[in-house]
Amino acid sequence: MPRSRDEVTVDFDHHLPLEAADPDEALADLQRACPVAWTEANDGYWVVTRYTDVDRVLKDYRFFTSNGGITIPKPRYGESALVDYDPPRHTAYRRPLNATLTREFVAERVQSRIEHWTDVCLDRVIEAGRCDLMYDIAVAIPAAVTLEWLGWENRDEWWGIGEAWHDMLSRPFGDPRYEHGTGVVSWFDGRIREELDQRRAEPRDDPLTTVALMEVDGKPIPPEHGVSIVRILIGAGVDTTTSLIGSALVHLHFHPDQRRRLQSEPGLWPTAAEEFIRRFTPARNISRTCVQEVELGGCTIAPGERVLASIWSGNLDGEVFDDPLEVTLDRSPNAHLGFGSGVHRCIGLHLARAEFLHVASSVLQRMPDYRVVENELVRYARQSEVHGWMKAPAVFTPGVKVRPDSQDALTLGL
Ligand code: HEM
Repeated sequence: MPRSRDEVTVDFDHHLPLEAADPDEALADLQRACPVAWTEANDGYWVVTRYTDVDRVLKDYRFFTSNGGITIPKPRYGESALVDYDPPRHTAYRRPLNATLTREFVAERVQSRIEHWTDVCLDRVIEAGRCDLMYDIAVAIPAAVTLEWLGWENRDEWWGIGEAWHDMLSRPFGDPRYEHGTGVVSWFDGRIREELDQRRAEPRDDPLTTVALMEVDGKPIPPEHGVSIVRILIGAGVDTTTSLIGSALVHLHFHPDQRRRLQSEPGLWPTAAEEFIRRFTPARNISRTCVQEVELGGCTIAPGERVLASIWSGNLDGEVFDDPLEVTLDRSPNAHLGFGSGVHRCIGLHLARAEFLHVASSVLQRMPDYRVVENELVRYARQSEVHGWMKAPAVFTPGVKVRPDSQDALTLGL
């Protein structure tokens, strides 16, 4: 007999500020007691926490569609082309973009720029012996790398949009910087439209041109679809990577033994990166909408009902991962769901990995004794979509610049 909704209704709202109680434990309790639960928050939705169920919800678009948005509540931007589509429409939008984010493309065209912007941003703070690991490093570098990769020419705008996304996702609703960040992200749509118009008039060899000239079924895509694709490339590309870098660096402050291990055994970085993605799961929750009645975890989910797949919780499932709350630097295999699953699996994962590996290892190399100022650490205000550290001020023994003649830090608008 399927369990009725009443039997599995819990008091849960993924938008509530993080409680003092350990959120990992709260999710583990939910996973044990009620792996598919119902909550009345946000007009009602199912909460799915077991690895296998989360994987199925993300993958099985015959039952769980992305149409109508992948967040609860639905996004205020309206429809996002690509992310909100199922195959075959999704495939038609994703195929042209794939080539701009392959492992080879990242290695050949972006890796040296990741190295460049890492040098520049670390040089900017290295002599002071003090910085914010979040804004100065984890926000600034992915913003520069992502905007440059896109082909965005005006460097003055790179930092502003990276900061705006971080403020919007990490600050409490109503905080002036949340309001400002939200305003900048909305305003940026107009700038994206201008850039795409400009690429249609004068095509270049860059991903903005790929989006501007995209055709589906032999016809140019509507301009607003192009805007939504670029918005998601920036939004999905910047703050998730920010969150991952910050979570790992703060963890390594609290676990000096693991920091020393990574410093002396750099060959561990690739498995460590996957483990940080699993354990700290930057993109915590992704939603779908049920389109065909389906039974999951002993509950019947009806068409039209919204479903929250807790990637975070799936990644901490003890049925799949031994000692799931531990960070095991050489964990292998590690089939985490941190980049999603199925046709929507993160298109930017090679870029994200390359950025993370270079930035985090460079911090350990150039600021080997950094210490987080613990009483100034601030978490994201919500655990809803992205989570991690809003601010992580740190001190370290001052070092020397590696590009003393570069003026690039000044051009970033930082
Ligand atoms: C650590 C960093 C990152 C994490 C944890 C992450 C996570 C995810 C997840 C979980 C999804 C699946 C969404 C779904 O199932 O609906 C996704 C999709 C996506 N990601 Fe990432 N992402 C990261 C970095 C990036 C980067 C660097 C880019 C691009 C510059 C990017 C662009 C996208 C896009 C465009 C999608 C939608 C793909 C589709 O619908 O086919 N992400 N990402």
